[in-house]
Amino acid sequence: MTGNVSSLKIAARIRQLASNRAYPVATKTPGRSVQATRKAIVENLWMHNRGWEELAEEDPIVPVSGKGARIIDAEGKSWLDVNGGYMSVHSGYGQVEIADAAAEQMRKLHYFPHGTASEPTAQLAAKLAEMTPGDLNRSFFTSGGSESNETSIKIARAFYRRAGHSGRYKVISRRDSYHGALGLTMWLGGSSQASTRADYEPAYPGMVYAPQPYPYRCEMGGETSDECAERCANQIQKLLEFHGPDTVAAVIAEPISVPAPVAVPGDEYWPRLREICNKYGVILIADEVITGFGRTGKMFAVEHWDVVPDIMSVAKGIVSSYLPIGASIAREDIANAFAGGTDTRYFQHVLTFSGHPVAAAAALKNIEIIERENMVENARVVGAYFLDQLTELKDKHEIIGNVSGLGLLLGIDLVKDPETKERYEISDGVSAALVKLFEARGLILRPSASAITLGPPLIIENGDVDEIVTGIDESLTQLFSDMHL
Ligand SMILES: Cc1ncc(COP(=O)(O)O)c(C=O)c1O
Repeated sequence: MTGNVSSLKIAARIRQLASNRAYPVATKTPGRSVQATRKAIVENLWMHNRGWEELAEEDPIVPVSGKGARIIDAEGKSWLDVNGGYMSVHSGYGQVEIADAAAEQMRKLHYFPHGTASEPTAQLAAKLAEMTPGDLNRSFFTSGGSESNETSIKIARAFYRRAGHSGRYKVISRRDSYHGALGLTMWLGGSSQASTRADYEPAYPGMVYAPQPYPYRCEMGGETSDECAERCANQIQKLLEFHGPDTVAAVIAEPISVPAPVAVPGDEYWPRLREICNKYGVILIADEVITGFGRTGKMFAVEHWDVVPDIMSVAKGIVSSYLPIGASIAREDIANAFAGGTDTRYFQHVLTFSGHPVAAAAALKNIEIIERENMVENARVVGAYFLDQLTELKDKHEIIGNVSGLGLLLGIDLVKDPETKERYEISDGVSAALVKLFEARGLILRPSASAITLGPPLIIENGDVDEIVTGIDESLTQLFSDMHL
C-alpha cells in the first residue's frame, strides 16, 4: 500500500467511478419538477457540508419518500440510508403515527400565547424526567443539538453566578469532539483534521481542551482502553488543577464521540469524570445529542456506566428528525438555583421556538414508538452483530486501521499505513471515491476524509447489516484496485 496517491489521478478516477452507478436502477426519467428542484439546489440552496459547484457536476439525489431505513428518490430509485439522516432518524422514515400526532396538534393549537405552556410541551418535560437517569428532572427546550449545548453551558455558568462563584466560566471539552456550530458551541471540542474555525477567530473565551479517550489513537499513550481512559480522565483533573477549579464551570463530553471516529472509552472513564467533577465542584454536562434515545443500546449512553450527569443535552433521536426540537435537561439542585421568581434568579434565555407544541407532540409519539417497538434492544442486538461483521472486514482490508462501536453507532478508522496509523486527507480523495462506490451499491453513506461512521435507524435488521457490510467490503476492494492503494 502506498500512501502518496496523486490527487489528480484520484480525481480522474472519481469521475470515472461516478458514471458507474450500477445500482439502484431508476424507474422513472427525471420529471420537470425534479429538474426544477435540482436547478434550485445548484442555484439557490446553501446546503451544509456540500458545495453547489460540486453538486452541479452530478445529479443530486432528491429524496421524496421513505420507509424504515430506506428512501425513494424523485426518479424512483431506492436507497438504504446508512446514517439515518444525520444519525438522527432513530425510529425510521415514514412513521405515519408521528405525522398524525403533529398534524393533530397543529390543527388544535400550533403555538402558545406569551407566558403560557402547551399540553404536549409540559408532557414531554414530564416524560424526559421519567426516562432520564437520576434527578434530571427539568427540561429547557431548544430547536436542536447546538442550541441544547449552548443552553447547557449557559445554565452552568449562570448557576455559579447564583451560587456566588462568578469566577467560574471556563469549560473543558475534548479534542476530536463535536458539540455544535453556534457562536459558543463551535469552540467546544475540535477536529484534528480540518481547521473549520479559522474563519471565525477570535475564539470564545474560557475554552480549555482535554484529550479524547480514543484507545486506538490514545493521545496520552495508553495502550489498552482502560489505560487510555484512566490517563485521559486524569488529564482533566490536571487541567482543573492547572487552571484552578474556581475558574472552571463545566466539563462537557459526549459519552461516545463520533468524529474520533466513534471513540468508545474504557469503562473507567465516565465514573472517573463524575468523581473528578464532584471533587472539584464542576458541572458535568453529557452531550447525548447523538447517543441519546437508544442509539447505543441503552436509552442514554451514560447508563452504560451508571453515571448521572448534572446536565444532559439532547436533540436528534428525541424526535427522530420529524421536526426540530432538543432539550437541555438539568438535575434538580442545578435547576433550583434558578427558582425564586425574581428577575435576577430565573434563567435569562429565550428561544421563540423553545418547546414548540407541534414538535413536542411529535417527540412524545416518537418516544412512544421507540419504547413500544423495543428499538433500544434492537440497537443493542443488531449493533453487536454489525460490529462483528465490520471487525471481520478489518482482516481483509489493510486500509481499515480500527473498528469500534456500541449499539448502532459504529466507526471505521481508515489509515494509509496500519503501522503509522497515518490518516487520509480530503485531498487524497478517498472519501469522495467511497461516496461514489457506496452509491453504486445503493447506499447513502458519506465518509469523512479518513473515517466511515455509521448510525442507521434503530429499526434495521441483520439482513440490512449484511447488505451494508457487503457494500463496504466490495467498495473497499474496488477502491484498492482502482487507486492502487
Ligand atoms: C454530539 C453532538 N452534539 C451537538 C450536535 C449539534 O446538533 P445540531 O446539528 O442539531 O445543532 C451534534 C450534531 O451532529 C452532535 O453530534
